[in-house]
Amino acid sequence: MKIPFFSCFSSFTKEKNNNNDYPEGQIHNGSFRLFTYNQLKLATRNFHSSEKVGEGGFGSVYKGRLVDGSFVAVKVLSVEVESMRGEREFVAELATLANIKHQNLVSLKGCCVEGVHRYLVYNYMENNSLYSTFLGSEERRMRFNWETRRDISIGVARGLDFLHEELKPHIVHRDIKAKNILLDWNFTPKVSDFGLAKLLRDEASHISTRVAGTLGYLAPEYANSGQVSRKSDVYSFGVLLIQIVSGLAVVDAYEDIERFIVEKAWAAYQSNNLIKLVDPMLNMNFPEEEALKFLKVGLLCVQETAKLRPRMAEVVEKLTNKTNIKDVIISKPGFVADLRNIRIKNQNSPQETGSAGATFASSIWSLANLAR
Ligand SMILES: Nc1ncnc2c1ncn2[C@@H]1O[C@H](COP(=O)(O)OP(=O)(O)O)[C@@H](O)[C@H]1O
Ligand SMILES: [Mg+2]
Repeated sequence: MKIPFFSCFSSFTKEKNNNNDYPEGQIHNGSFRLFTYNQLKLATRNFHSSEKVGEGGFGSVYKGRLVDGSFVAVKVLSVEVESMRGEREFVAELATLANIKHQNLVSLKGCCVEGVHRYLVYNYMENNSLYSTFLGSEERRMRFNWETRRDISIGVARGLDFLHEELKPHIVHRDIKAKNILLDWNFTPKVSDFGLAKLLRDEASHISTRVAGTLGYLAPEYANSGQVSRKSDVYSFGVLLIQIVSGLAVVDAYEDIERFIVEKAWAAYQSNNLIKLVDPMLNMNFPEEEALKFLKVGLLCVQETAKLRPRMAEVVEKLTNKTNIKDVIISKPGFVADLRNIRIKNQNSPQETGSAGATFASSIWSLANLAR
């Protein structure tokens, strides 16, 4: 049964209704819905602090309950409206994103545009993100046995493969990280936040030439010269995969660059002791060959030369196939030479203090993002 669309529209929608663009009472473009501010206020108990489930580069995220009883996550976009695309383009872009459906992608349900305020409405993911549910403490990691880790890794790879290969035109995610892997009630992983860069005005100059990812997950060519490609997502996926197997933070300490997870994995690989990287919380309860294979696939993904990195389809194949990859040749990984320098350079950059895109860029470059 289809969920009925709510009776009210935002001022934007009403205006469009007059033009018959979005007929009243209809769901706009497939299952995409336009919400009013009041509906979202009601759903989130007036954006009550106890309903807040997270905070990110774009703004705060609240849990909400719609009148039909379903739960949603409402992302309050705190990006200045001037840096955002116009209303019509904004809604059209989101409607397109809402049509992208895959078992391992978070579904966008709709949005709300009211005056200067803009909100995105997603399906609510009961087990929050891989970052908040899995990483950090031993107790958290303990809940994730090998099978769960394997399923999560493969699910994320499939979601990304879908964005890269099945979608026409394809989408480069640009910000693959543990915080953007959400987990539903059943711990099925769902990649979130794909396609968001396009919501910003002048995407090409604000995002592609700067960097929209999170330090530690960034491919060096992307961090250093803004070169974005599917292979830069593959690099980020490799970092994430090594994290899922090892339970390690991406960077242990800001001051100590040697503790970057990719460097640790490469050192272990070179000394023929990759197995020591597997999370001790697994208590040796894991299939050794498979765990080693996952780590090697991770290392293949983070190779310095982008064209040597596998495509996501090959990654899925390697992770799911029973054959092992014992004899594969892995070349040296790419590193962002000095994470701290890049951050400082960007924070001090005069270009980034004046423009509307700067708010977005500097929030992305914030210390919080360096954490894992
Ligand atoms: N659909 C969702 N369901 C449940 N929690 C969510 C959802 N979307 C986001 N969150 C939570 O809100 C946090 C902030 O999200 P976001 O604004 O995308 O920033 P970031 O991805 O940098 O963390 C996420 O890390 C996650 O904990
Ligand atoms: Mg996110």
